[in-house]
Amino acid sequence: MNDDEQAAGKRLSGARLWHKDAVIYQLHVKSFYDADGDGVGDFCGLTGKLDYIASLGVNTIWLLPFYPSPRRDDGYDISDYRDVSPEYGSIADFQAFVDAAHARQIRVIIELVVNHTSDEHPWFQRARRAPVGSPERDYYVWSDTDDKFSETRIIFVDTEKSNWSWDPVAQAYYWHRFYSHQPDLNYRNPDVVNELLVTMNFWLAKGVDGFRLDAIPHLVEREHTDNENLPETHALLKHVRANLEAKHPEVILLAEANLWQEEAREYFGDGDECHMAFHFPLMPRMFMALAKQSAKPIKTILRQTSSIPDDCQWAIFLRNHDELTLEMVTESERNFLWETYAADKRARLNLGIRRRLSPLMDQDRRRIELLHMLLFSLPGSPVLYYGDEIGMGDNIDLGDRDGVRTPMQWSDHQNAGFSTASPHKLALPIISDPQFSYAAINVADQQGDPHSLLNWMKQMLRLRRRHEAVSRGSLRFVKTDNECVLSYLRAFGDDIVLCAANLSETPQAVRLALPGLEGYVPVELCGGASFPAVGRENYPLTFQPYAYFWFAMRR
Ligand code: BGC
Repeated sequence: MNDDEQAAGKRLSGARLWHKDAVIYQLHVKSFYDADGDGVGDFCGLTGKLDYIASLGVNTIWLLPFYPSPRRDDGYDISDYRDVSPEYGSIADFQAFVDAAHARQIRVIIELVVNHTSDEHPWFQRARRAPVGSPERDYYVWSDTDDKFSETRIIFVDTEKSNWSWDPVAQAYYWHRFYSHQPDLNYRNPDVVNELLVTMNFWLAKGVDGFRLDAIPHLVEREHTDNENLPETHALLKHVRANLEAKHPEVILLAEANLWQEEAREYFGDGDECHMAFHFPLMPRMFMALAKQSAKPIKTILRQTSSIPDDCQWAIFLRNHDELTLEMVTESERNFLWETYAADKRARLNLGIRRRLSPLMDQDRRRIELLHMLLFSLPGSPVLYYGDEIGMGDNIDLGDRDGVRTPMQWSDHQNAGFSTASPHKLALPIISDPQFSYAAINVADQQGDPHSLLNWMKQMLRLRRRHEAVSRGSLRFVKTDNECVLSYLRAFGDDIVLCAANLSETPQAVRLALPGLEGYVPVELCGGASFPAVGRENYPLTFQPYAYFWFAMRR
């Protein structure tokens, strides 16, 4: 068997277009479970928790960066693309994890931080000493002045003043779109493109099922542009995809392109670039809809989203490891969302909010459920951020985005059952604030409580799995006479699901226009009760505050 056949053997077979039905659980190895008691989570610990992950009803894991790194950007500053950070284990531990995940029919997506490396990466150390004009030097983007590419915005506005930094060794400025310790790679150099393909092959041989392409709009630079989404970047992605397609057509690329929907859509190409892309503009509009008690923000943004190639899929999310970014809203919307959800200015970072979902919702179970019901039923594959299934809190006193990356709360034992190390050795402190502490919020307690958020999540994901309409179906908004109620139909063949949600803090009544569904009986999915059949009149429903319905429409 050659390497590619071996790799294919390690991967899950069947299910073409698996990403369309993916339910993705995003986690940090560092913070999930520490098996060797050194205070830092590791692959052995994660493998030991796979049964828990499988029990949630997710079918894909997205791992945050686990590569060797000085960790000045929590691993997004990579110093070796083809190894595992020793704190997290070995390549053998990684392989054992992938195999064990596959044995449970769970796929694995890993991070490919394509745009930049750490300044400690040997490529950068070599480049800064290499002669000007040499291929080694040209792994990165250099300039004698810091005024080139002046139309390019700064992303980490709270820390960086320029996208150029002076390197005293190279005696030149180097280009970086993120932190100054993250020099951008130069994809105009064919050697760099080749390195990327070699890295991908390295992990493909271990059986990974997908790559999240970090910060993908910034790959290629050109003078007199804003250096985002250049045709050259798309050409590079087509090249990467063609290479992947030739040998691993079942492996997916997931674009992290924090852009308006029409620009993000370009990352699907004609079905020849990425298979998936995050829908960044939808995310803040779910929070906006709730704050304004109006269906409008969600309806407007999805109506403005054009259809995508058949084999592609959006990835949708509420929270992740970063700040809740407010880049894809207008300035007045951003100020409104900041005032509503981050009145305490310490919670603001760059153009966003560094909080987890439960604190953002003031621990209001009704609103947490409502947002997840939308996440699980709007078009796209949902991404669930570890800990949000139990309503974990955050710690805004920690630096950068560390406050939303604290150890998973497994039990009310020492260190939340995450590690046996002494507490001061932990990668990050456990949440101790009484409202969100591990004594109050942990997996073990919620597993034993049939009414817990955790068990609610499992039930919703179970119901979702039964209806292909929700993962693959079309979307049609239902006309209502009440703006507080968001209602939509998802349909795939005969499978029709009607969703309706009251975004308001008060009870509401609504009439839904359901043309073409006369005679259908809405069967409520959570409890199985049949509701009155749809007649010729608009269909009446009443709701408690923040209540929602999922109905299967039966003839
Ligand atoms: C990641 C961030 C990271 C940045 C720079 C992103 O978009 O999600 O966590 O800091 O890229 O790598």
